[in-house]
Amino acid sequence: MITIAIDGPAASGKGTLSRRIAEEYGFHHLDTGLTYRATAKALLDAGLSLDDEAVAETMAREVELGGLDRSVLSAHAIGEAASKIAVMPAVRRALVEAQRGFSRKEPGTVLDGRDIGTVVCPDAAVKLYVTASPEVRAKRRYDEIIAGGGTADYGAIFEDVKKRDERDMGRADSPLKPAEDAHLLDTSEMGIEAAFQAAKTLIDAALKEKI
Ligand code: CDP
Ligand code: CDP
Repeated sequence: MITIAIDGPAASGKGTLSRRIAEEYGFHHLDTGLTYRATAKALLDAGLSLDDEAVAETMAREVELGGLDRSVLSAHAIGEAASKIAVMPAVRRALVEAQRGFSRKEPGTVLDGRDIGTVVCPDAAVKLYVTASPEVRAKRRYDEIIAGGGTADYGAIFEDVKKRDERDMGRADSPLKPAEDAHLLDTSEMGIEAAFQAAKTLIDAALKEKI
């Protein structure tokens, strides 16, 4: 069993990279952001408060990792609510427990999020911290919306990216930061394939060491 931990801020490219790695090596992939989004959606759908930690924890414990689908969890309001409940220690404890269970699957797993290398899987064989400048990340989100046929305001998206960074990096419980032993991958001027090749070199070296 081998675990690959991939962390980074919003739109840094960690999800795309994780899916590519999972496909290449035949590993299971978990986008842990979806566990926070699913908890938030359950609260919103039930018309419950986003400020009650005990209620949010109950919802977090009911999240089924097998049924997570980004297309039904992608709404902006769900992302906002997810980022709010992600500051609650009881919610984090419940979701981290489920994520750790997932990380032990054979033959290997890739988990991406904010605290995988620091909290969820501190013993991961390879840890990557994927970054890109806020301008580049906002442009990626903008391009995604335009490519999907929607309309978008770059300035508003840029402000949103900065606000999300502040909340993720500033929270007391499990703030977003690179693990001490993480490899930094700045993708500001790097395409998806180049980022994958950099990751592959590190993973192949770790796999060789395990044999
Ligand atoms: O998972 P995360 O929010 O970190 O980002 P993502 O959904 O993987 O990537 C956000 C967008 O940036 C996607 O549309 C990717 O195709 C794009 N991207 C890119 O243009 N260049 C990269 N090196 C990585 C991602
Ligand atoms: O919405 P965005 O693309 O920025 O992030 P996401 O990966 O969909 O995750 C939604 C929210 O969950 C994020 O804003 C984080 O605050 C939170 N999250 C977290 O706290 N820890 C994780 N391991 C993953 C996500």
